[in-house]
Amino acid sequence: MHTAEPLACQRHLFELPDDVSYLDAAAWSPLPRTVRAAGEAGILAKSRPWVHGRDGDAAWAERARAAAARLIGAETDDIAIVGSVSHAIATAARNLAPTPGGRILRVADEFPSQCLAWDRLAAERGLLVEAVPRPGDGDWTAALLDAIARPGTPPLAVAALTPLHWSDGSIIDLDRLAPAVRATGAALVVDATQAVGAVPLDVSWLRPDFLAFPTYKWTLGPYGVAFLYAAPGRQGGSPLEENAGNQPPAAGARRYDKGERNDGVTLPMAATGMELVAGWGVAPVAVRLRALTDQLAEGAASLGLSVPPSALRSPHILGLRVPGGLPAGLIGRLRGDKVFVSARLGGLRLSPHVWADEADVARCVAALRAALC
Ligand SMILES: Cc1ncc(COP(=O)(O)O)c(C=O)c1O
Repeated sequence: MHTAEPLACQRHLFELPDDVSYLDAAAWSPLPRTVRAAGEAGILAKSRPWVHGRDGDAAWAERARAAAARLIGAETDDIAIVGSVSHAIATAARNLAPTPGGRILRVADEFPSQCLAWDRLAAERGLLVEAVPRPGDGDWTAALLDAIARPGTPPLAVAALTPLHWSDGSIIDLDRLAPAVRATGAALVVDATQAVGAVPLDVSWLRPDFLAFPTYKWTLGPYGVAFLYAAPGRQGGSPLEENAGNQPPAAGARRYDKGERNDGVTLPMAATGMELVAGWGVAPVAVRLRALTDQLAEGAASLGLSVPPSALRSPHILGLRVPGGLPAGLIGRLRGDKVFVSARLGGLRLSPHVWADEADVARCVAALRAALC
């Protein structure tokens, strides 16, 4: 799928002990040492404001904005700094005014931050929400293409999509879906939480109206800060919260910036993490992660677990099903063996990132064998 050379293992940049297999980046990633140091410098400055001025904080906001833009092929001016993905999606929903009677499309069991603002908008403006059911053959892209074009349904107003299902990594191919959405004249709003930093994504090709991602998972940053891309034609709306920083003459998507934006702790952390990822290049990261999830898939299949076909799964997140369902206490038992994964919607979700290596894969498969066989 990707032709880049794989990135080498970056475990040396983290604080992971050798015997810990942390395969849960889709939930919460550890910080590289440099990101932790950036945050600690910010905490020190806040502890001693008489020593450290705040002059650099606005510059960090612009540096973080530029780093976020670079990761998704956007211009710096197209990025707003917000507090969370739900904040970003609520901002998008507030600034779209779909015609009553239209349809808001999404996948079944979507993450709440990409649902709740749309449910509210649908109730307020009289729109129908259609959640496309999980397809039996696992092909979300085909199911969504059918739903977009299905005759006899209300016209598509908003496609609220993600590049993959957050629960198990199954691919939702936006490269094919975005043109189909655009052809209907509907708005495209993307929650790219589980993609940015791990798989290549380019807004100049997708041309979404809005796209959001946080920093605490795949871009190796802190909790509490996220980024909202707003297409140039979508930058004249209203922010959720009015504050001095997002009033005119705030340029471009800065119009949607959050209050208390110039945070001297989280912004240097976010910028440092994103710059690290951009320095590696996202394509080499994806190639590395594909190799690891392929090895995990092979090991899991040898234990009798059900593994989605390679063509339908993302490079970085592997969803596994245990025949008969997940045994109670499985996640805790794996933790006891220092293997960290998540249970999501009845399946196991394994999500390695740049710190993970073949030894992590082997420990994970051995722990699964001990727990299940
Ligand atoms: C698909 C998806 N969207 C959004 C989020 C986070 O949303 P928020 O920043 O609103 O907490 C997550 C977290 O797991 C997620 O998986």
